[in-house]
Amino acid sequence: MASTKVYLWLSFMIITQTVGQDIRSEEMSLIPDSKFQCANTTCLPFISVITTDIRNCQFACLGQSQCIAATFHRSTSNCELFDNMLNQNGNVLADVDATSMNVISGTRFPPEWTMTGNMSIARYYHTASALANVSVLVAGGSDRNGVYLNSAELYNPSTGTWTITGSMSIGRSWHTASTLANGSVLVTGGMSSGSFHLNSAELYNPTTGTWATTGNMSSGRYYHTASTLANGSVLVAGGQINGFTALNSAELYNPSKGTWTTTGSMNVIRGYHTASTLADGSVLVAGGQSNAATTLDSAELYNPSTGTWTTIGSMNVAREYHTASTLENGLVLIAGGYNSTSYLNSAELYNSTTGTWTITGSMNTGRSWHTASTLANGSVLVAGGRDGTSYLDSAELYNPSTGTWTTAGSMSIAREYHTASILANGKVLVTGGWDSFSAFNSAELY
Ligand SMILES: *[C@@H]1O[C@H](CO)[C@@H](O)[C@H](O)[C@H]1NC(C)=O
Ligand SMILES: *[C@@H]1O[C@H](CO)[C@@H](O)[C@H](O)[C@H]1NC(C)=O
Ligand SMILES: *[C@@H]1O[C@H](CO)[C@@H](O)[C@H](O)[C@H]1NC(C)=O
Ligand SMILES: *[C@@H]1O[C@H](CO)[C@@H](O)[C@H](O)[C@H]1NC(C)=O
Ligand SMILES: *[C@@H]1O[C@H](CO)[C@@H](O)[C@H](O)[C@H]1NC(C)=O
Ligand SMILES: *[C@@H]1O[C@H](CO)[C@@H](O)[C@H](O)[C@H]1NC(C)=O
Ligand SMILES: *[C@@H]1O[C@H](CO)[C@@H](O)[C@H](O)[C@H]1NC(C)=O
Ligand SMILES: *[C@@H]1O[C@H](CO)[C@@H](O)[C@H](O)[C@H]1NC(C)=O
Ligand SMILES: *[C@@H]1O[C@H](CO)[C@@H](O)[C@H](O)[C@H]1NC(C)=O
Repeated sequence: MASTKVYLWLSFMIITQTVGQDIRSEEMSLIPDSKFQCANTTCLPFISVITTDIRNCQFACLGQSQCIAATFHRSTSNCELFDNMLNQNGNVLADVDATSMNVISGTRFPPEWTMTGNMSIARYYHTASALANVSVLVAGGSDRNGVYLNSAELYNPSTGTWTITGSMSIGRSWHTASTLANGSVLVTGGMSSGSFHLNSAELYNPTTGTWATTGNMSSGRYYHTASTLANGSVLVAGGQINGFTALNSAELYNPSKGTWTTTGSMNVIRGYHTASTLADGSVLVAGGQSNAATTLDSAELYNPSTGTWTTIGSMNVAREYHTASTLENGLVLIAGGYNSTSYLNSAELYNSTTGTWTITGSMNTGRSWHTASTLANGSVLVAGGRDGTSYLDSAELYNPSTGTWTTAGSMSIAREYHTASILANGKVLVTGGWDSFSAFNSAELY
């Protein structure tokens, strides 16, 4: 087993840094008088920074969650950070001016992602709703055999455990769930056995832990959107009635009456779109799929006071299965998705003052069916999904002030059709999902 590599691995050290109240650490092996370098561009550093000394180069690596190796050049003070060890291994060259370091796998603390309690049932296409009392309600979805589930469970963040709560009247997948002003959760539509697209809706009462059916929508629909308006009504828009046919109709649920009324129809038939409630109370709908599997770049705004839709400027890129996140500065970030040929890494921002779309930094990975969560500090965490060849465990963070994405560690499981919820303690809870072979009961925290 004698090799230059073994000879070079001389010492190990633990790098520890306190950032605010958090202590971060990782263990690194030092490779003196050597640098990482290879003949092609696959193994370039993902970033190079100038640091005063090797210790600050190690801190720079500790500060970038994707950093797994570094080279510090003494004469130039250049600190090169690498994120792909497969390409660095076997590319250690002698250089008396340089010191290289490897992060020992599994020694980074705290890890970005940690496992929490398992749900009692593996599920995907389900919904997750944060309740006022900090518990998270997970409802419905499909199990590993594709059976539509009516069961629901509650996650308690202080114990990290799940308990079964009341069941819905019918199993449903690809439904919506909206938390109402009085704390109840309204579930609408979805796919089911028997009736492929459901028109029914039901309310979960967190104080009793039970469900009650409420008024039916005029149309059955799945993969539609539901948006809570400022006056408490819930706007449901579009959605599929089967794999090829979608709707442009929209309806409003009045929580005090428990009834639905139709409102203006969208200008475009669409399912697999996103809906975002803006600060002025209007609802922005973007992209999705129209009939004949056409991917849409169009967007429209619902005006709650007139009950009408107005077409606005189109996105730069047609996309479906993307995410939409409202940022603290009021912009809406649209990320990733699929355009019927490619899994997209592009992202764009909608500014409601100008009514225009601007391309922003691209994700490191093209992905659809991922989740997006706006963190308390304003960054947006995207997690999982698929990129066309594989299911993804990777996560990335969008920084609104720089318009750039950085990797944010990996979940323990590659998953799509999962959910992500912001907890009251600021963490993000990811639940369930599948990878086309298995459905998952596991949940993890970022
Ligand atoms: C680039 O270098 C890496 C690591 O040595 C190697 O695995 C890969 O095949 C090389 N790629 C090309 C195109 O030469
Ligand atoms: C969660 O379930 C997985 C299998 O689905 C199992 O490997 C793991 O040990 C479970 N974790 C806990 C905490 O029960
Ligand atoms: C929240 O309410 C539900 C339903 O009453 C209850 O089962 C759950 O334990 C509560 N969660 C917490 C954290 O108190
Ligand atoms: C709602 O529709 C279902 C069929 O989808 C029907 O069984 C039920 O009676 C309807 N409920 C109301 C209140 O109309
Ligand atoms: C919220 O309002 C609805 C409609 O009035 C009602 O059915 C439900 O029980 C209420 N929920 C709670 C928690 O009071
Ligand atoms: C909210 O506003 C819409 C549009 O003006 C209206 O149709 C609906 O009845 C209102 N809802 C409530 C609960 O007042
Ligand atoms: C939106 O556009 C307006 C008009 O150009 C500009 O003043 C504002 O700063 C933009 N908003 C953000 C958050 O960039
Ligand atoms: C999808 O996106 C890819 C990559 O941006 C582009 O090359 C392709 O033309 C797009 N396809 C459609 C149908 O828009
Ligand atoms: C927000 O917090 C995450 C860690 O949870 C961090 O990686 C990210 O850089 C922070 N974003 C900003 C804008 O400070």
